[in-house]
Amino acid sequence: MEVKIFDDYDALSQRTAEEVIKLVKEKPDAVVCLASGNTPLGTCEWIAKKVKAEKIDISKCNFIGLDEWVGVPKENTGSCSYFFHHNLFEPLNISAEKIFLFDALSNDLNGECKKMDNIIKEKGGIDLIIVGIGMNGHIGFNEPGVDFSLLSHVISLHETTITVGQKYFAGAIKLSKGITLGLGHLMNAQKAILIANGKAKAEVISKTVNEPVNNNFPAGIMQKHPDGFVFVDKDAASIL
Ligand code: PGA
Repeated sequence: MEVKIFDDYDALSQRTAEEVIKLVKEKPDAVVCLASGNTPLGTCEWIAKKVKAEKIDISKCNFIGLDEWVGVPKENTGSCSYFFHHNLFEPLNISAEKIFLFDALSNDLNGECKKMDNIIKEKGGIDLIIVGIGMNGHIGFNEPGVDFSLLSHVISLHETTITVGQKYFAGAIKLSKGITLGLGHLMNAQKAILIANGKAKAEVISKTVNEPVNNNFPAGIMQKHPDGFVFVDKDAASIL
């Protein structure tokens, strides 16, 4: 695992977007998994900007969504689906058949998990996965204590995730479960990049990079990824 420190959030976002652009240029039908949230927003904006400016054909690229809040409709502005459509798919006119997101309203969530696992397998696996990190060290909704070998699964959310997660929604919302790609997917991906910015993330980044790997702090698994990177701005790197 390699740590790269950028001057600020914009430089971090631009560089992360470049990773996607480089991959799509080399492999137009790449399988890219992106996280939603505040951290990847700049990355999505830069991907959209660069694809348009450089007139890159991104139409063959496959997009996998990392996770979703169970029970939250995709129209809700706090859903992961809304984030992707609003910040990436609509600006780039990505067609529906290239977008693979969990249906968090499904009556058969285990079936949704199997469906996602099969899609990833059929497409030849994930080429690049870009994830954020939660204040409890989660990646996606892989909460502390999660089995590192899991593929897609449904999980009960931690108190921290439920509290912090309110920030995405217009009003208070009851959150209890998440549907997520597993850390097995992260480890199987050809390349994995964890991104974080801001002083609030300094402690979790220090733990990710320096602490012995243990499933009580899921993000530590990045240390084990053969082509794993942690991209941070100076603030998030401030206690490394
Ligand atoms: P954030 O979320 O990018 O909004 O900080 C990170 C996460 O919880 O994975």
